[in-house]
Amino acid sequence: MNNRCILQLALLLCFSTTALSLSYNLLRLQQFNSSVECQKLLEQLNGRPADCLSDRMDFKIPKEIKHPQQFQKEYTAFVIYEMLKDIFHVLERGYTNPGWNETIVTDLLAKLNHQMDLLNTTVVGKLGEENKRQAYSMIILRLKSYYVRIRTYLDAKEYSSCAWTVVRDELYWNFSFINRLTDKFQN
Ligand SMILES: *[C@@H]1O[C@H](CO)[C@@H](O)[C@H](O)[C@H]1NC(C)=O
Ligand SMILES: *[C@@H]1O[C@H](CO)[C@@H](O)[C@H](O)[C@H]1NC(C)=O
Ligand SMILES: *[C@@H]1O[C@H](CO)[C@@H](O)[C@H](O)[C@H]1NC(C)=O
Ligand SMILES: *[C@@H]1O[C@H](CO)[C@@H](O)[C@H](O)[C@H]1NC(C)=O
Repeated sequence: MNNRCILQLALLLCFSTTALSLSYNLLRLQQFNSSVECQKLLEQLNGRPADCLSDRMDFKIPKEIKHPQQFQKEYTAFVIYEMLKDIFHVLERGYTNPGWNETIVTDLLAKLNHQMDLLNTTVVGKLGEENKRQAYSMIILRLKSYYVRIRTYLDAKEYSSCAWTVVRDELYWNFSFINRLTDKFQN
């Protein structure tokens, strides 16, 4: 390889690193916006927590997820992507609640879908095999069980309005957590 080639290679490497960090900054802003918009929509769905105290439930969030400082950027994007996918699957059943405005549920699902697409095209779809193996670690599996518990709870409560209110609030706070994870995209 001659010197000109090495220089070009160095420039190329330098350029792609910059491009990646730029796209992470953009992704951070975009993800933050999307979470806030989802929270605003969730707020508009009917249900007073004070009426549903006896339905409250501890869904037991995996402890590992509470310490996001250990995560790499790519991995963080993957965790967020998986969470959005699970939140989508929970809210897909939202139409079973006659008290909820269908337009808002539809908007919420569209927002989640859009954000998942964005994460997938910018990061998740580009993860190498090694990263993917790491991605399906215990954390993701425990996270999946957490959302299974939420769906099982709704099922057991026969999708009552109060069960939906409890789940809505749980998901609302999940987005605050997603925003904490999103901070990991910053350099
Ligand atoms: C985020 O939302 C703000 C205000 O709604 C907007 O000005 C900004 O352009 C949005 N940023 C991105 C990256 O979408
Ligand atoms: C449902 O929400 C949409 C959008 O916020 C609103 O325009 C519509 O009036 C609502 N429908 C009902 C029945 O409240
Ligand atoms: C994610 O992206 C990959 C490659 O970019 C694509 O093959 C896959 O279908 C996408 N998945 C979803 C759920 O969009
Ligand atoms: C979801 O929200 C609850 C309630 O605030 C919180 O304890 C939990 O950590 C959140 N779960 C995730 C996966 O962010």
